[in-house]
Amino acid sequence: MPIAPTLALVDEAQRRGYAVPAVNIADDLSARAVIAAAEGARSPVILQTSVKTVRSIGARHLSRLVHSAAEEATVPVALHLDHCPDRAVITEVLAEGWSSVLFDASDRPLDVAWRETAEVVREAHAAGAAVESEIENIVGVEDGVGSDEALHSYSVEQLVEVARDTGTDLLAPALGTAHGLYTADPVLRVDRVESLRALSDLPVVLHGGTGLRDEDFRAFIAAGVSKINISTALKLAYMRTAKQHLDECERTGRWEPVKMFDAVLVAVRDEIATHIEVFGSSRDAAGAAA
Ligand code: 13P
Repeated sequence: MPIAPTLALVDEAQRRGYAVPAVNIADDLSARAVIAAAEGARSPVILQTSVKTVRSIGARHLSRLVHSAAEEATVPVALHLDHCPDRAVITEVLAEGWSSVLFDASDRPLDVAWRETAEVVREAHAAGAAVESEIENIVGVEDGVGSDEALHSYSVEQLVEVARDTGTDLLAPALGTAHGLYTADPVLRVDRVESLRALSDLPVVLHGGTGLRDEDFRAFIAAGVSKINISTALKLAYMRTAKQHLDECERTGRWEPVKMFDAVLVAVRDEIATHIEVFGSSRDAAGAAA
């Protein structure tokens, strides 16, 4: 089927009480593995690309490979640009048919973030794409974007006011989670999701999914989160499996790339499948929840 609109997937998740898995891919192999996991669960899925991945593969080629994988997929697949502070990259991917973008203005003061978010929303909507907005920073560095320090934080009322005024489609608030591996137990702010949902219907996105417990995911979903981002878990499954294979090549003296690709695909597919199960987005689980 053609590439899906992110907002349609997330709106349905919101209505039916689950979260759409949004997984950062690094290449064609990881894209196919994530789609295989989604197909196995009969779940919609959002494939996300970091700015680093866009730069590494090129927006046009990356778009073509995801569009063609989505065409063949038996489940809806959307294409989303993850944390992007760079307006030129947003313009570039919108021209190449991304379903949505995360404009990350969390590194700038509120008045600038506010004005630029409104501009990005106008540009994206004109291209038929949706905008996730981040104006307070989610801690942690992801593919070279972000900061380990909390730079800006606002009240939930302020977040909703900016989102309403700018026409933002999805909110990425700070919820106590962090990108990458946790070095200490996070203080999770499920209460902020409840407060946001009490104030507005805007879909709320949970970042920093890797390392959270199943019960944490379930609490966030019950509070109203409808998109959950996973990146580091995929990288770990991918790279550890590749390393195991390469160690084996070294030991046996037999160097076979395709075998490694097959092993990586299975490892990534299985890793993402475990998350999809918890997110409740499989058609069967969602049907039961509806
Ligand atoms: P993790 O790398 O912690 O899974 O976070 C992913 C994410 O939030 C991408 O935006």
